[in-house]
Amino acid sequence: MASTETAIEVSDLRKSYGDLEAVRGIEFRVQRGEIYGLLGPNGAGKTSTVEILEGYRQRTSGTVSVLGFDPNQRPRELRARVGIVLQSSGIYSHVKVAEVLAHFAQFYPHPRDVNEVIQLTGLTEKRDERTRHLSGGQRRRLDLALALIGDPELIFLDEPTTGFDPAARRSAWQTIRSLRDLGKTVLLTTHYLDEAQALADRVAIIKGGRILAEGSPAELGVGGGSRYRVAYANGDGEAVVVETDNPTTLLHELTGAALGRGEELRSLSVTRPSLEDVYLELTADA
Ligand SMILES: Nc1ncnc2c1ncn2[C@@H]1O[C@H](COP(=O)(O)OP(=O)(O)OP(=O)(O)O)[C@@H](O)[C@H]1O
Ligand SMILES: [Mg+2]
Repeated sequence: MASTETAIEVSDLRKSYGDLEAVRGIEFRVQRGEIYGLLGPNGAGKTSTVEILEGYRQRTSGTVSVLGFDPNQRPRELRARVGIVLQSSGIYSHVKVAEVLAHFAQFYPHPRDVNEVIQLTGLTEKRDERTRHLSGGQRRRLDLALALIGDPELIFLDEPTTGFDPAARRSAWQTIRSLRDLGKTVLLTTHYLDEAQALADRVAIIKGGRILAEGSPAELGVGGGSRYRVAYANGDGEAVVVETDNPTTLLHELTGAALGRGEELRSLSVTRPSLEDVYLELTADA
């Protein structure tokens, strides 16, 4: 039984398409107020999982609970409390940005202000543009705006920032963080691991329909633990990378030796593994 603190609960979820078992017994739980990321290579089963939770696809077996409801029945009450950015969309084309937002706002009991959402998603200059004239990234911003217009408490974002320019991505991150500040729950998929690292409280890494690892970025060994990577260019200009759990001593020795030779250690850096490093290690083919 899901507690009131649980927004999403998934247990032994399976989804087959004919002979293909795309989701093979997935289990996870998302707390209210949490940003949870699903990561994994193309075809891992992320969209299948998310769209089952949204009520857009039927599961083959397993149990799922979304805000206490079974999304399979597409209950009205659930729809009003959930906002969705699909991986691919493309309805509305002749209407203007502000019109399409105002149109969808009326389906929700307590919608946000249209102009506020337009501003939040960086569409102010395109407010009166027909949606078919938007660029790819602008259309994606409109998708995000549509997910926010109903002021939902749970938001599904399937690759929400694909096609965004770097500044737009950063500002979308701000918007998504502001949702967490408001106590909303977010389920996010993304191939941008810096995005997941910047936003997600916890992530699950999925491959072949199974969860390979789950936890906060810190628990997955990102940016913490004992692993440090010291990189520099040697006298011949070749890149050298050394992993260590004691960078202070290593740097002392390296820089001492270099100074003794009267040299500079060029391109010197000390880094910790990023989520991308951990992800690539976990999902690498054996
Ligand atoms: N409607 C469908 N009919 C048949 N096979 C499907 C269908 N939808 C997805 N699949 C297959 O299920 C597997 C998982 O697809 P899914 O879209 O869930 O992956 P994903 O993790 O979202 O990938 P991506 O990162 O590319 O979006 C893939 O092998 C895909 O080809
Ligand atoms: Mg997908």
